[in-house]
Amino acid sequence: MACVCGSGKENRETYLQPLREIFSRYSTEQANLIPILQEAQEQYGYLPADILQEIASSMKLSTAKVYGVVTFYTQFHLKPRGKNVIRVCTGTACHVRGGTEVLRAIEQDLGITSGGTTENLQFTLETVACIGACGLAPVIMINDDTYGRLSPDKVAGILAGYRDEDMTPEIESTLKLAN
Ligand code: FES
Repeated sequence: MACVCGSGKENRETYLQPLREIFSRYSTEQANLIPILQEAQEQYGYLPADILQEIASSMKLSTAKVYGVVTFYTQFHLKPRGKNVIRVCTGTACHVRGGTEVLRAIEQDLGITSGGTTENLQFTLETVACIGACGLAPVIMINDDTYGRLSPDKVAGILAGYRDEDMTPEIESTLKLAN
């Protein structure tokens, strides 16, 4: 959702409305912290600092406690993430078959490094230990789509299919072989 925080009380209330709605469905017991964080992340796309402060204050927890939980679990994100999340496998099978070169080609194409998000919020780039499709190494995932047997020269064409919001990638199955 668009950020409308920080400019007037009315906007602030609009901004916080999704969080209020989440709290209307949960008691403020500490046991509900994780599902509340999950739902807040779903609503806001990530967990902004002011939302974490609101959660802490509503649940009568310290901000440090809430941050402790958020930073413990990899499912939570403190920074905005791209519409498309690219996961590049850096496991052994992918590494020996050129996964590092594929990662470099993606980094070069997007102008970000692993862990980064493009300024237009179209892409977030991450590395993972193993996607579980070692026979297709080197492998990447973009959202729920898997691309195997990649080489650096195939990267630009694959990314192009995700670049334009109006352009739906031509994906007929969740498994794509790049050759
Ligand atoms: S090592 Fe890359 S998919 Fe398993």
